[in-house]
Amino acid sequence: MRVVVTAGPTREYIDPVRFLSNPSTGKMGFAVARAAAERGWDVTLVAGPVALKTPKGVKRVDVTSAREMLSAVKDALADASKDDVFIATAAVADWRPGKCAKSKLKKREMDGVLRLVRNPDILKSVKGVRKVGFAAETKDVLAEAARKCREKGLEFIVANDVTAPGCGFGTDTNRVAFIGPDGAIESLPLLSKLAVARRIVGKLSR
Ligand code: C5P
Repeated sequence: MRVVVTAGPTREYIDPVRFLSNPSTGKMGFAVARAAAERGWDVTLVAGPVALKTPKGVKRVDVTSAREMLSAVKDALADASKDDVFIATAAVADWRPGKCAKSKLKKREMDGVLRLVRNPDILKSVKGVRKVGFAAETKDVLAEAARKCREKGLEFIVANDVTAPGCGFGTDTNRVAFIGPDGAIESLPLLSKLAVARRIVGKLSR
């Protein structure tokens, strides 16, 4: 089975020395790639800028922006079949600056207004494979996750409240629930990110 995993943040550059991003460290996605490789699956990990070692047996493609991530995912899934899997754990920036300046902007050149344009939704735009997404929420966790699961055409979504203790950006643990398109909920206890990852790949191989 072929699996493509996205992980980490994206960076959306304003000029050569400034960007928009988020605190994602890539730990959850790297754990998913590791767990999938442990099963003997053919794993491509498309990683935003993170400081993590590539798990054993995993092919890694490094990217910076959401548009680069989309293009790397499309390449990795070029001849994929309907049994292959796309697992999107990356915290993709939803917006990018309308243009990136070629040289560093001077303070006097900035007027305090940054014009943003929408980034593509990578998970939504991938078609023809089994898809799993993540929903990092701060309120109405289950309802929001169920909506995203349906809207993005997912087999299931992994929902977590990033404000809960032991959860969220940079932690080694996570407390998640798997939610299906029909709203079925499977809640897991607080586990290491690797244990959560093994539960995800276990669910996919059932
Ligand atoms: O809609 P939201 O960003 O909360 O959805 C989260 C899910 O969608 C995650 O699996 C994330 O990796 C994926 N996503 C994506 N491309 C985007 C935004 C989110 O693949 N531009």
